[in-house]
Amino acid sequence: MTAKIIDGNLLSKELRSHVAERAAVLTSKGQQPGLAVILVGDSPASQVYVRNKIKACEDVGIHSVFEKYDAKLTEAELLARVEALNHDPRIHGILVQLPLPPHIDSFKVIEAIAAEKDVDGFHVNNAGLLMTGQPLFRPCTPYGVMKMLESINYPVRGAHAVVVGASNIVGKPQAMLLLQAGATVTICNSKTRDLGHHTRDADILVVATGKRNIVTGDMVKPGAVVIDVGMNRDDAGKLCGDVDYGPCAEVAGWITPVPGGVGPMTITMLLVNTIEAAERH
Ligand code: GUN
Repeated sequence: MTAKIIDGNLLSKELRSHVAERAAVLTSKGQQPGLAVILVGDSPASQVYVRNKIKACEDVGIHSVFEKYDAKLTEAELLARVEALNHDPRIHGILVQLPLPPHIDSFKVIEAIAAEKDVDGFHVNNAGLLMTGQPLFRPCTPYGVMKMLESINYPVRGAHAVVVGASNIVGKPQAMLLLQAGATVTICNSKTRDLGHHTRDADILVVATGKRNIVTGDMVKPGAVVIDVGMNRDDAGKLCGDVDYGPCAEVAGWITPVPGGVGPMTITMLLVNTIEAAERH
């Protein structure tokens, strides 16, 4: 079997054109949607992610404000900036790029974002709403993965979904969204014994560990949907995911590439969440 590719760029293009239409409607009423993005420090990876988010806003007509701070910014200074943006009527979404420098308590900063502007869906109120089945904002990466499954009309209900990785940003909210869509969900983590035993039973396999090649071809069930959230560099410096792509694509029914898979979808769902925040406002 050679897997069909779920093209995140193509699906993003389609979804972003709807976002642009919704943005235009709001703008015509004098309510242009606005997103503030805060970056602290100069991690090269974070700078690339943030640049892509700002560029995507421009492309669909969302007003964006980019605030870049030195790594020495204090926690109190950052909290003051978040507070000011909470009260800024032109800003409907606030994103603080993670990770933050170690002297800043990320939890405290996320809690300071007004829940109705928390377009990442990381605030504890939003995590709780997601957990109880009434999400205000779905975290962007898992939301994008659900859209990818929807795009291939995959019958999630009753399927066995295995999520490898249990972070607050991806793994945990991903498991919740799959569970709410009717899947039977297994969550694995870095300590899981005999990972392949679990992944080989997955109809839907979502891999978000940050470890290159953690899933090899022999760990995939024939015909499964393999969704690779990883973003790593191989020995030649080329972007790659967490999944050993070639051998897994031989076994899977569907697979997402890196780059061009989940990455663009994460940004697309950030745009969707920002539009929803602005429409609610
Ligand atoms: N760092 C890695 N992924 C994300 C994300 O989705 N949102 C934020 N704020 N930071 C991140």
